[in-house]
This record gives sequence, C-alpha cells and structure tokens, in this order.
Amino acid sequence: MKTDASKIVNALPLPALLVRQDDRIEAANPPACDLLGGAIEGRHYMTALRQPTLLDAIEGCLRDGADRSTQYVTTDGTNDVSYQVSLRRLTEEQTHQVLVCFEDITHLQQVGQMRRDFVANVSHELKTPLTALIGFIETIQGPARNDPEGQARFLTIMAQEAHRMNRLVGDLLSLSRVEADERVRPTERLDLSELIRSTVHGLQPLADGADVSLQVDLPSDPVIIAADADQIQQVLTNLIENGIKYSGAGAQVRIHLGPPQEQPKLRARGVRLEVADTGPGIDPLHLPRLTERFYRVDSHRSREKGGTGLGLAIVKHIINRHRGRLRIASDLGKGTRFIVILPCT
Ligand SMILES: Nc1ncnc2c1ncn2[C@@H]1O[C@H](COP(=O)(O)OP(=O)(O)OP(=O)(O)O)[C@@H](O)[C@H]1O
Ligand SMILES: [Mg+2]
Repeated sequence: MKTDASKIVNALPLPALLVRQDDRIEAANPPACDLLGGAIEGRHYMTALRQPTLLDAIEGCLRDGADRSTQYVTTDGTNDVSYQVSLRRLTEEQTHQVLVCFEDITHLQQVGQMRRDFVANVSHELKTPLTALIGFIETIQGPARNDPEGQARFLTIMAQEAHRMNRLVGDLLSLSRVEADERVRPTERLDLSELIRSTVHGLQPLADGADVSLQVDLPSDPVIIAADADQIQQVLTNLIENGIKYSGAGAQVRIHLGPPQEQPKLRARGVRLEVADTGPGIDPLHLPRLTERFYRVDSHRSREKGGTGLGLAIVKHIINRHRGRLRIASDLGKGTRFIVILPCT
C-alpha cells in the first residue's frame, strides 16, 4: 500500500524521493528513477545517492528536522548537470521521513558563466588599446617631449587605438540593442534588392582600397520582405566587410539574392541571400564557434584589421530576430559562403 506521501511524491513533476527513518527509500518518482538509475525504492539511500554532501544532508535532516539545501552534480554523458537539492522532514505519528527534491539549475549556472566570460572579454578588449594609449601619452610627456616627428607618429597610433575602442563600444551597444528587441518581430516592409544595391555602393571604396571586386546578382523584380532596414543593412555590411577584409587582394566577393520562394528550412516563403568570397576560407573546425562573441580565427590578424570579433555575433542575433537562418560553409583554400535565409513576411 502506498502512503499518501508516496502518492504525492509520485505525482511531482521534478525528481523527488522520500527517505524513511530506517534509511530506506520509501518512494522515488519516475524522474528521480531516470536521474538516479532504475529501481531504487526499498534500497538504502546511501547506495542510491552516493554523493557525500547529499548523504550528510539527508542524515542531518532525519536527525534534527532542520530544512537543508545542497547540490548534486551528475553528467548526461557529455556535460555536467547540476541540481539544487532541497530537503524537508515530514513527521507523522512520531516517525520521520525526508522529502528530497531535485531542481536542475544547469542553465542558471551557464548564464552566470557566460556573463563572467563576457565581462572578462570586454575588459580585456578595452584594456589592450587603453594600455597602448597610456604608454604613448607617457612617452610624449617624457622621452619624446622634444621630438615632434616621434610625437606625430605616436599620435597616429593613438588615434587608431582610440578608434578601436570606439568601434568596440559601438558594437557592444548595437549587440545589446538587438538583444533587447530580439523577441519583437520586425514589421517594416523593405525592398531587399534595393538595400543590397545601396549597401554595396557604400562599401565600394573599401573594396577598391583592398583590391577586391564586388559582384552583385539580384532578381529583376523587387524583393519585398518584413524586416528592420537598419539591422539588415548591418548584416549585409558585416558579411561583405568580412569578405573584403579577410580575402586579400585580387579576391572576389559575390552577393547573390534569389527570388522569394518556398524555403524548406523555414517551412514558409522566404528569400535566400548568399555572400561568398574567394578568400583563404576558414578551417571547418572553427565554424561552429564563429558566431560567438569575440571569437576570432586568427585574433592577431583580425585585431590588425581593426576587428572586434563581434560582427558575426550581431549578424546571428539580427537573423534570429527576423526568424531567419544563417549557415556558414567553408573549407581552407576554397573561400567562404555565408547563406542567410529570411522569411518574406
Ligand atoms: N569571409 C571570411 N573569410 C575568412 N575568415 C572570416 C570571414 N568572415 C569572418 N572570418 C573570421 O571570423 C572571425 C569573426 O568574424 P567577425 O565578423 O565576428 O569579427 P571581426 O571581423 O574580427 O570583427 P568585427 O566584425 O567586429 O570588426 C574573424 O575574426 C575572422 O577570423
Ligand atoms: Mg567582421
């Protein structure tokens, strides 16, 4: 016969179990059996749980009746999974039982870790140019006080470093703006062909300076989608700019837009935009992490080119907001293709 307490434990949606005063497990609900492995009802709790901090907590709770909470860490095969475990003593007719409830807090810990990593990355990225600026200021005030030529040279570098910091702060602000309205779907109607034409026109001088040719291939009719024009322009700029920056002299960047049609990936009508370059390509090893904030394949080379490593993170968030898809295809020596699929409405 199941007691009322065991029936309640069985009905709980989170892993939960009940431990009797004689140290046996009175009840374990299906999520708890999944977590702790098979038939544990009737077993001594020490053989089912095994983690000393949890065992101590159960023993203490049975003894003195005080509420406790502790952590239980396990693995799902590839990653650690952390549970917050709460213990409460139930007493009926002078016999005690302990209710043990498990709550998965892995995602909370991951968010915390991401926030710490982000702050560490931002601080590091700002500190590098700042250290250079401080160094040059001291040089101009000291050893180079009477050296106008040196001063001019240092000021040029200082200006570059200050621009770097400015770009970084600008990128961080746009990232946080995009994240803030990621849940709001854009409704503005936009002619994507026209936007591509004007964006490419604006980037032509950069391409000319790098000796990279830009080719545009658009459908003859206007392509109307529901989108935020500023944000889609930022996607285009970041992708085309990467193509120009990383491909090297003599390369080509081709921007191709297909006509609206059914897109299996979206299960809706949409358009396919491709930005492909003939540059050195990216080792497929890096592709899964490329859209992470501050991720760079060759951080020295990217920094040299004034990159902050935020461009593709911004692209990914904007495409998410538009309920679109981003795919990156590349192989070393074979150029890189960024494929963006955006819904029409
Ligand atoms: N077309 C490309 N060809 C080769 N490598 C690329 C290309 N696009 C991006 N990458 C690699 O991916 C990294 C991340 O790109 P991302 O645009 O996010 O940052 P960034 O260009 O370094 O900085 P930012 O765009 O903020 O100025 C780059 O540092 C570069 O190593
Ligand atoms: Mg970039």
